[in-house]
Amino acid sequence: MKKRIFLIVLDSLGIGELPDAHLFGDIGTNTLKSISKSPNFNIPNLISLGLGNIDGVDYLPTVKSHLGKIARLREKSMGKDTTVGHFELSGVVMEKPLPTYPNGFPKEIIDLFIEKTGVLGILCNKPYSGTEVIRDYGDEHIRTGKPIVYTSADSVFQIAAHQDIIEVDELYKLCEIAREILQGKHGVGRVIARPFTGYNGQYTRTQWRRDYSLEAPGITMLDILMGRGVKVTSIGKIYDIFAGRGICCSLPTHSNSDGMAALDEVEANGTEGLIFANLVDFDMVYGHRNNVNGYASALSEFDKWLGDFLPKLTPDDLLIITADHGCDPGDISTDHTREYVPAIIYEKDGKSENLGTVEGLDFVSKTVLSELGIMEELIACALEASKNAYSPYSEFCVGAALLCGDGSIYTGANIENSSYSMTLCAERVAFSKAVFEGKRQFKGIAIVSVDKEGNTNTACIPCGACLQFMSEFCQPSFEIYRKINGKTEIYHLSDFLPCSFSLREADTK
Ligand code: THU
Repeated sequence: MKKRIFLIVLDSLGIGELPDAHLFGDIGTNTLKSISKSPNFNIPNLISLGLGNIDGVDYLPTVKSHLGKIARLREKSMGKDTTVGHFELSGVVMEKPLPTYPNGFPKEIIDLFIEKTGVLGILCNKPYSGTEVIRDYGDEHIRTGKPIVYTSADSVFQIAAHQDIIEVDELYKLCEIAREILQGKHGVGRVIARPFTGYNGQYTRTQWRRDYSLEAPGITMLDILMGRGVKVTSIGKIYDIFAGRGICCSLPTHSNSDGMAALDEVEANGTEGLIFANLVDFDMVYGHRNNVNGYASALSEFDKWLGDFLPKLTPDDLLIITADHGCDPGDISTDHTREYVPAIIYEKDGKSENLGTVEGLDFVSKTVLSELGIMEELIACALEASKNAYSPYSEFCVGAALLCGDGSIYTGANIENSSYSMTLCAERVAFSKAVFEGKRQFKGIAIVSVDKEGNTNTACIPCGACLQFMSEFCQPSFEIYRKINGKTEIYHLSDFLPCSFSLREADTK
């Protein structure tokens, strides 16, 4: 178990096209490969951690015994943007891409927006460039008082308004209402307030832009950590990506060097828990501007910083370096690219291990929760709960510990009956207690069994009835933890129950 985890996202450092890259127009893209050809590329520390040994990274030197545990991660969510990438890193997979509106927002959304905000109507409702939209609609907006609503190729709902017509605070309120409306299938990545000033067709945007992110539509590792009393510190735009949810302390930054300075500061002041940092320049300054040499220099600077940072880490620390998507500066497009991302996990005196290619960026959240002792704690709770089993007939004691979305833990044990079929399993007892107390979101369950000889067999699998019971409240990704030979293993509900009975139409489709 670790006391601190430094999780660093090198924004957009992809390592090669995913098998479905053609669906995103990204065949042949490879961010790391593109920058590796630059004369500015010099990353000895990342190489010694094992970056060149990762699957598919055959254009960098390998090392015999790399210092880190390494993997190539394949994104499960259907997207290639910052929000979706970070959600998946933190444990929430989004099967559907965030919605975009190439033909503007549908009438029902606009009508609801007008009704709830009381505005007289809206202008534009099309994808538009931010500077052109105020040039083309600014005068009409001033004449009519109607806000300008527009979008882009990204999943955004933007509202532009002149500061003298709709005051900035009022504009923020319009955005909050839009954010409330834009949920579920219309859950856009961001609602953005775009205030501007000027007159007679000469308009400029002001510094009072404000972004309203979509809250993660599921349980993130941040929710769990916060609920369990583990401190989460954000560095850079992590706080905005998660709309602040699950974060105790935020250090905003303006650049990669700011971010690295913040990491040094947090390391030096002994902050514990999860320190979650995003270094955005790779993407924002270099990737989107197709600046190969700039990107290579930025990664080399990070590598240099890493050389000073690594020796500071103690055996109580873990460092995870990863990315959220690609943004190949060497391809024609300036957009993000659908790529694999690297995962490098380093601990002082840790073992060198290559995990190959791993399904899902949520591998990172599993590592974080496990390394910060959450699974261990659950297994311990389940073992303790097994002592309360009422099992005079089987003399088989089962304990379960259910982890809820808010980090709370509900335990249960089996309760038998003379009429055997009335026996309640440990899992259903834990679930019933939690559901009765109003809990509806569940992350996972640990199950432990103890037989009459007192042997702890922690490899208990829920019975079919319990799986069906769980499927009423849980997603297929709901986790089931068991400990075998000292190692915690994680399964998903869908591993044991690929399909379940449901009366809900949406579930049976
Ligand atoms: N049992 C559980 O509590 N959970 C399981 O996942 C499997 C079985 C209990 C029911 C019964 O009291 C005993 O184990 C033997 O079947």
